[in-house]
Amino acid sequence: MKEFGIGLLGFGTVGTGVVEGLRRNGDLIASRLGVRPVLRSIGTRNPTRDRGVPVAPAKISANLESVVDDPSVDIVVELMGGKDAALTMTRRALARGKPVVTANKALLAEHGAELFRLAAEHNTDIYFGASVGGGIPIIRVLREGLVANRILSIHGILNGTCNYILTRMEQEHLPFDAVLREAQDNGYAEADPAFDIDGIDTAHKAVILAWLAYGVHIPLNQVLVEGIRNLSAADIRYGADLGYRVKLLAVVKRHDDGAVEVRVHPAMVPRDHMLASVHGVFNAIMVQGDLSGRGVFYGRGAGREPTASTVIGDIGDVMKNLLGGSARRFRATPGAESVPLLDRGQARTRHYLRLALRDRPGTLARITAALGNHGISIASVLQQEQGTGDHVPVVIVTHECRERECQAALQEIAGLDVAGSEPVRIRIEE
Ligand code: NDP
Ligand code: HSE
Repeated sequence: MKEFGIGLLGFGTVGTGVVEGLRRNGDLIASRLGVRPVLRSIGTRNPTRDRGVPVAPAKISANLESVVDDPSVDIVVELMGGKDAALTMTRRALARGKPVVTANKALLAEHGAELFRLAAEHNTDIYFGASVGGGIPIIRVLREGLVANRILSIHGILNGTCNYILTRMEQEHLPFDAVLREAQDNGYAEADPAFDIDGIDTAHKAVILAWLAYGVHIPLNQVLVEGIRNLSAADIRYGADLGYRVKLLAVVKRHDDGAVEVRVHPAMVPRDHMLASVHGVFNAIMVQGDLSGRGVFYGRGAGREPTASTVIGDIGDVMKNLLGGSARRFRATPGAESVPLLDRGQARTRHYLRLALRDRPGTLARITAALGNHGISIASVLQQEQGTGDHVPVVIVTHECRERECQAALQEIAGLDVAGSEPVRIRIEE
């Protein structure tokens, strides 16, 4: 049977999962595909560290170039993460005409355009199935299964670490830091967990989804990104009282005038919404196509084996391409359209606002007037009798309004001298 040599860069959570997956299911994969992936060499920073995965020491080195350049390596699998060595080695592999499989969303979100051009120049491919959704083959769904559709919207829970933290905070009433440590211990979190909790990882994935859906590489700095670092247990509880769960959501959609909107932020979603019942490390992506209607793709969004499953699936595709001489089945700029971006201030949602207000006559009237001054209509108000000191918590849910109007109203409220602390604002996504 024809064999293809695999050169692996990075031998951490996902890298060890891929080696173990190939070892465990290599025969099955070969029997299904008619070609066999064979691990030839591994490049990693600390080659002598024991990873609990049996690999001949001679196969592992710290010399990344030697892995990429190894003539017996047909496919380079980049699982180091980051944008330094990963970028250099990906460029090097593509320049040698070697296909690259990667799970590195940061690399693709920030250098995707360049790397896809380079792959095209050298008549080879980059496969990136595990860069979004971990074990959920959503990239394949968008590129192939839904190719007939205009994508109207994508709503995604795309970060396992954040979803794990939010679920544990809500269900077990655990503090943020303790739950983050659990997610790190389970191998879900990025090397720098700030990427997870500050929404950057989700934004990288949203940029990739927007690219697949609309054919545009949206610069990260044009995406509205807010993370979960400042979410409090109190807001999760008030949200629950109002019938919502708090999720870190990526929203990618196209408006009737053609403008594309991409935003990432904590959002309250109604408890009976399908995304509200996505718990723990699970991810889910709800895609609305003009022909397919709405579909939800659900599974483990992070972790060693689920991610390895998708990486190995990509290796399978690349081997079939090499076997059939059919590289470049997918275009680097799907759609190749020039698409305007929606101005951030124009995004429309409902809002949950929590204010700590002085418990004095007329305070609430001043707040509602400030909201009214910016055309914001109130859907409900909840005031607790007890607060801290002179202040009581007031929760306001608005009807839909623009981002810009909400910000202006909050600024006006901050200047009123009735609020005890920064207002909390969480968008509501129905
Ligand atoms: P880890 O931190 O667990 O592993 C990274 C590996 O790469 C380590 O073996 C490390 O070396 C090696 N490495 C990092 N930098 C270098 C360098 N400059 N030179 C040589 N080796 C280097 O990361 P993960 O396995 O979790 O993630 C890998 C990629 O997969 C990332 O892009 C991540 O975003 C993505 N991903 C991860 C998921 C997950 O659940 N963990 C899910 C989906 C995608 P050493 O160990 O020798 O020090
Ligand atoms: N750190 C990421 C997460 C890994 O928690 O979802 C998967 O991309």
